[in-house]
Amino acid sequence: MENVKIINFKINTDKYGKLTPIEQKIDIGFNIKRVYYIYEVEEGVRRGFHSHKKLEQVLICVHGKVKILVKTPNEEEIITLDNPSEGLYIGPNIWREMYDFEEGAVLLVLASDYYKVSDYIREYDKYEKYYKKSKKKEVK
Ligand code: TYD
Repeated sequence: MENVKIINFKINTDKYGKLTPIEQKIDIGFNIKRVYYIYEVEEGVRRGFHSHKKLEQVLICVHGKVKILVKTPNEEEIITLDNPSEGLYIGPNIWREMYDFEEGAVLLVLASDYYKVSDYIREYDKYEKYYKKSKKKEVK
């Protein structure tokens, strides 16, 4: 769907194990200004429930398994992340929810900008309006 894609990172495998490197602008399309990770999420917890006006992110489940719902007013998809060499790119204007965190799961997030409260839309109604308004602007 628009503004969402899976990125397969390189895996260097040798007798010592596996290593996956990620370089900004090379393996992901933006410069990384922030890294954070979500972990120790209890069973049944669902989080996210927001979209971003400008922020680009890549989500990587570096351990365990988690489901991600990505959604616009027109389409939605559920992606299971359970592979440390796979990233889920989520661009601007996409609603997301994260849930079904397996016990011990760690979700690493690479972000294109610093934490800015003003970039968040946290109510679905507002997101829908913002999305439709920005699509109208694109057509003009
Ligand atoms: P929140 O945005 O609610 O997490 P999610 O939407 O993924 O469920 O973030 C949880 C808390 O962490 C909230 O108090 C804001 C804070 N936070 C930061 O301070 N810096 C960050 O980069 C992020 C993503 C969150």
